[in-house]
Amino acid sequence: MRQKIVAGNWKMNTTPAEGEALAKAVVAASSEVKDVTLILGVPFTHLCPVSKAIAGSQVKLAAQDCSAHDKGAYTGEVAASMIAPFGAQYVILGHSERREYHGENSAVLNEKMKQAYANGLAPIYCVGEKLEERESGKHFDVVTKQIEEVVFNLSDDQFDKLVVAYEPVWAIGTGKTATADQAQEIHAHIRKVLASKFGAKAENTPILYGGSCKPSNAAEIFSKADVDGGLIGGAALKAEDFIAIAKAF
Ligand code: 13P
Repeated sequence: MRQKIVAGNWKMNTTPAEGEALAKAVVAASSEVKDVTLILGVPFTHLCPVSKAIAGSQVKLAAQDCSAHDKGAYTGEVAASMIAPFGAQYVILGHSERREYHGENSAVLNEKMKQAYANGLAPIYCVGEKLEERESGKHFDVVTKQIEEVVFNLSDDQFDKLVVAYEPVWAIGTGKTATADQAQEIHAHIRKVLASKFGAKAENTPILYGGSCKPSNAAEIFSKADVDGGLIGGAALKAEDFIAIAKAF
């Protein structure tokens, strides 16, 4: 049985106090959730208060990025070694907003992956195509390349800890979701690409869907064989919606 995961990506939302309250509300409702790993992907400034808010609960902590470097003169950057001590177990890498607004390419992401693994953080590696790429039928090629150029460089042991998130850029924050069939089609493709390098181990890799996932559409999307959960943006900012999504399996 593959691990089921519902991860929130809070992006640049909430003050630290609001984030702490949100985490506490998620913890309070989390007893309703069985057999699903809940992860909160919080801003760096929230790692400390949220780590305290979730202590002793089943809720896990993620950062939304980490530096490609281990330390040094990189003003404004945060190293993986600075994230892990807060008890974070995951880091989101390669989100389309990082690729788009910060020019992150495979070369940078390979370095970030190394830093994550070196510090015991499991990457939630994001892939996904833009609207024009889907409309021109290139979506399979785009995600294949994003995987080959980064995931294929992992060792077998590293691959065992990887989580993949498929997030079509055209569905992020737009209210437009991939249909459950579209999600299944590309998740199955992603698993096939992973299997071409890592063999049967790819059967164990959680592949999450992200992009306007909400309580009203989660059940249908999660019902698909190769969809193992969600990476949730807007709907993760309300504890009741986040928990409702986690209960949608
Ligand atoms: P929304 O759920 O707000 O569309 O965001 C998805 C996302 O980018 C999660 O990483």
